[in-house]
Amino acid sequence: MILADGKPVGYLCWQKPSEEELDAAGLACLPECLVDIDILVGELEFLGRGIGPRALTLLLAKLREEGVAFAGLGTSISNRAAIRAYEKAGFRLFREFDDPEYGPCRYMIADLRGAL
Ligand SMILES: CC(C)(COP(=O)(O)OP(=O)(O)OC[C@H]1O[C@@H](n2cnc3c(N)ncnc32)[C@H](O)[C@@H]1OP(=O)(O)O)[C@@H](O)C(=O)NCCC(=O)NCCS
Repeated sequence: MILADGKPVGYLCWQKPSEEELDAAGLACLPECLVDIDILVGELEFLGRGIGPRALTLLLAKLREEGVAFAGLGTSISNRAAIRAYEKAGFRLFREFDDPEYGPCRYMIADLRGAL
């Protein structure tokens, strides 16, 4: 849960995607041991205040401590706010792909060990 001044305003969730999920998205080339993240700031008045990048930065620090090498997330290429927020948290374009549900998407990766 993402809290702002103690109020729940959104959530983050993360998982290791299965080979089947990566295949279905045409992303089988992603590094093994990647952690995939979903994020939502659901309260309108809390959008555009830097909460998303801050929450992602905290999660990346936790994942780094746990030894995770790469974290990634996907979003529609039309979601400029999300792409901007992810860039601010240190994610960079990995590649574009066609999601069966959302159409043209962009997958972005954060390199937590500076290996790339
Ligand atoms: C994507 C998301 C998590 C980003 O979090 P955030 O806390 O709003 O991120 P930021 O505050 O850094 O804003 C990112 C960009 O959104 C845009 N933005 C600013 N105010 C905004 C507003 N009121 N509403 C929408 N977008 C806004 C700006 O371009 C901003 O970039 P800038 O600060 O360089 O100008 C959040 O927008 C969100 O949950 N959106 C709805 C769900 C979604 O799209 N999730 C991602 C699906 S993959």
